Amino acid sequence: MSNKIVVLGVTGSIAAYKAVDVASQLTQKGIDVEVILTKAATQFVTPLTFRSITARPVVTDMFQLASPFSIEHVALAEAADLIAIAPATANIIAKLANGIADDSLTCTVLATAAPVVIAPAMHTGMYNNPVTQLNLTKLHQRGFTLIGPLHGRLASGGIGLGRFAPPDEIVTTICHLLDRKKDLIGKEVIITAGGTQEAIDPVRYIGNRSSGKMGYALAAAARDRGAHVRLISAPTSLAKPLGIEVIDVQTAEEMSVAVGEMISRVDILIMAAAVADYRPVKMQKEKVKKADQRWDLTLERTPDILAETASCTPRPLRIGFAAETENLLHNAKVKLDQKDLDLIIANDITIAGSGFGADQNQVVIIDRTGCIEELPLLNKTDVAQRILDRVVKLLAE
Ligand code: PMT
Repeated sequence: MSNKIVVLGVTGSIAAYKAVDVASQLTQKGIDVEVILTKAATQFVTPLTFRSITARPVVTDMFQLASPFSIEHVALAEAADLIAIAPATANIIAKLANGIADDSLTCTVLATAAPVVIAPAMHTGMYNNPVTQLNLTKLHQRGFTLIGPLHGRLASGGIGLGRFAPPDEIVTTICHLLDRKKDLIGKEVIITAGGTQEAIDPVRYIGNRSSGKMGYALAAAARDRGAHVRLISAPTSLAKPLGIEVIDVQTAEEMSVAVGEMISRVDILIMAAAVADYRPVKMQKEKVKKADQRWDLTLERTPDILAETASCTPRPLRIGFAAETENLLHNAKVKLDQKDLDLIIANDITIAGSGFGADQNQVVIIDRTGCIEELPLLNKTDVAQRILDRVVKLLAE
């Protein structure tokens, strides 16, 4: 990463202190980090903090006479390999979406040809406001990469969507973009995510612990590598990724129908969803009242979606996951053979901090020849990129 220049724009959000970590991690990777603080950001963090971390002057004022840059916004805009705005407030997002250039940061972004990354952080209401959503859509359509926000605890004390993405994830995304491969341009991809829910009655269902994070990370990574992505999503609390067509489903049957409708038109199917293998034979129309006696549920098999796509023509690349608690490699290989897959991602879900619900995952990639690639515990974004690297190799073959 040496010889790379990242302009880090920091705006006026309480999450501004986390940008110090972003600057520090990028600097440690050998990247030259040029920090621009908006006026509001200086209320939360000081230029000296960033200057100490990056060993570079920090821009706070368009008209800084002592600045080392001749015309700052032009010099930085041209020098940047990438511009990251983290955290990005609703205000900066609105300005950028509408071409307003009234300070160093907005002028620099307007003048640059470099890729731009935005990590929004704000109150849920501001984030969900249709104006903010429209502005984000505009930026995404212009090719900006959006990271987060996440659902979680906010500065207001409430819980909701709007939390700044973890600095690690932002740094990983920046590094991937600096090293960007656009190797999936023109490819049609279906990714499934989340855990299906099989209704018992109007209140209860059979479900599982999938958060959808792995599938959503794959969808975002495929999109960033140029693919046209359709994400078939079982219920999750994740924000819908921009630039990706999301098809919401609830049950295994609905997911099967959605996959079946599109499979003949795609190049790649990746099933990260945790699909229920069984559902109640009959959904009760009314809520079942509790009683003293035992309640036995009779279950039947759901469609095996991956297996059903084995005979599809033209044949897309088909990648499955295997969530296992024992005999990882053996069980995964059996699934690869039974479902006639091109790759299977063996997922030992007993590893702490990995698998269901976690931000990280530790997987083993197995191909049809039995070749095994063991990955360390990585962020799901990194796992997604490593899986796509293998997919691209298979496409080339
Ligand atoms: O969502 P997260 O919280 O991020 O967690 C990620 C994950 C652990 C869910 C993911 O990494 C994972 O392992 N997904 C697959 C889970 C699973 O259902 O595994 P399985 O071994 O039961 O199924 C094998 C494969 O067949 C999977 O690709 C599955 O999508 C598919 N399948 C399963 C059942 C079914 N009826 N139809 C299917 O197509």
